[in-house]
Amino acid sequence: MGTSKDRLRKLDKRFIWHPYTQMKDFETRDLLFVDRAEGVFLYDIDGRRYYDTISSWWCNVHGHNHPVIMSRIARQLERLDQVHFAGTTHEGPVVLAERLYRYLPPRLEKFFFSDNGSTACEVAIKMSLQYWRQIGDVKREKFIALERGYHGDTIGTMSLGGVPAFEGPFDPLVFESFTIPAPYCYRCPCDQENYSPGQGSSCNLECTEFLHRLLEREGENVAALILEPMLMGAGGMISYPKGYLQRVHALCERFGLHLIFDEVATGFGRTGKMFAMEHPGVVPDFICLSKGITGGTLPLAVTVTTKEIFEAFYADYNEGKTFFHGHTFTANPICCAAALGSLDVFEAEKVLEGLPAKVSRLQEGKMDFLDIPIVGDVRGIGMVAAFELVRDKEARSAFAPGERVGWQVYLRGLEKGLILRPLSDVIYLFLPLAVTLEQLDEILDLTAETLHDISSVL
Ligand SMILES: Cc1ncc(COP(=O)(O)O)c(C=O)c1O
Repeated sequence: MGTSKDRLRKLDKRFIWHPYTQMKDFETRDLLFVDRAEGVFLYDIDGRRYYDTISSWWCNVHGHNHPVIMSRIARQLERLDQVHFAGTTHEGPVVLAERLYRYLPPRLEKFFFSDNGSTACEVAIKMSLQYWRQIGDVKREKFIALERGYHGDTIGTMSLGGVPAFEGPFDPLVFESFTIPAPYCYRCPCDQENYSPGQGSSCNLECTEFLHRLLEREGENVAALILEPMLMGAGGMISYPKGYLQRVHALCERFGLHLIFDEVATGFGRTGKMFAMEHPGVVPDFICLSKGITGGTLPLAVTVTTKEIFEAFYADYNEGKTFFHGHTFTANPICCAAALGSLDVFEAEKVLEGLPAKVSRLQEGKMDFLDIPIVGDVRGIGMVAAFELVRDKEARSAFAPGERVGWQVYLRGLEKGLILRPLSDVIYLFLPLAVTLEQLDEILDLTAETLHDISSVL
């Protein structure tokens, strides 16, 4: 390292403003200063090792620095680094679309590239709206989203976000949308008694009635409904009750609006299948992908939609039906090479075939956490497990925000070699698919120890 560690730490504090970070928290302590990575581990500049239990913000898939992806990137760097994508094309995105298509339902066949999860969702929203206008159904201009939903930090995606802490200060900027309650069974909007932590729900999906009633009233004014299928991430790692997505899909079909699946976090194996939409077996009108698309190495995104939607834009130029949206690094060749490398790994290492054993170990292992006094709920799907911390299990009452229990867990986790990044008081593991069974056991043990420690001092 060319610059001394102390100087680097000082320069960070002097110049850098970190995302989703209260900088004052680091007035008297240092940020975790990462130096290098290997597999499922990150190493700090003092050589300490940490499990990357949140897959570097939910994107790492095959472990860090996978040689297959690295060599694809290196080869691409020698050929073509960057070129605009408007009226120009190149090999990477073309081959990538053809290969991704093999994993998708045939109806999803038109690929629009961008470079992050927020833009993947913005593209879907804008395409949906423009579609309805171009086919003459101009009343359809509203959107429906879920409370606790999260689709990114641009103004458009914040307008469809349901996490007040993230969107609150930007009230005057966001557009109006309809919001329906999340299928948050632990705090069910209909009847909390239907749900036992770790066991799931025994309800008739009464919560879908909110959507039904809304659509009866407003259905003909709605362009699309957007949600994160099977797992709501930033809203608290909320896994869906069985049948919910089928019910929502049927309602969207009946009332004629588009359904947008934001698979930015759930795509590429995280839920145990390549895409979360495979669990309910329903096909949306749009799917938004990013994060894991490159194995979590470089920024890339794609919004995939149907031929029917594409064709509403396909016209003589003077009809004014072009989709005027694009970003400088759309379909960047190096990022596409990384994505192709990631698919190579999926196929050569039979990654999906190896998942069931890991998924069972994690989902069974999470149940033991219910013995920890402050763990009120355990939930999860695939390679994701979450623990909601509460003051009182019976009453399901939360800790006061000022107690910063999640923050205490984060700090204790670091001491044990875990990078946990709680969502308020929801502690979660969002594991790389490459984690081994032995590593998974150790992560579960260390996480349980961390929660026991915090429980004992509260
Ligand atoms: C479901 C979902 N959608 C969209 C986004 C936004 O992605 P990005 O941070 O790449 O803009 C995220 C990021 O966490 C996400 O989890």
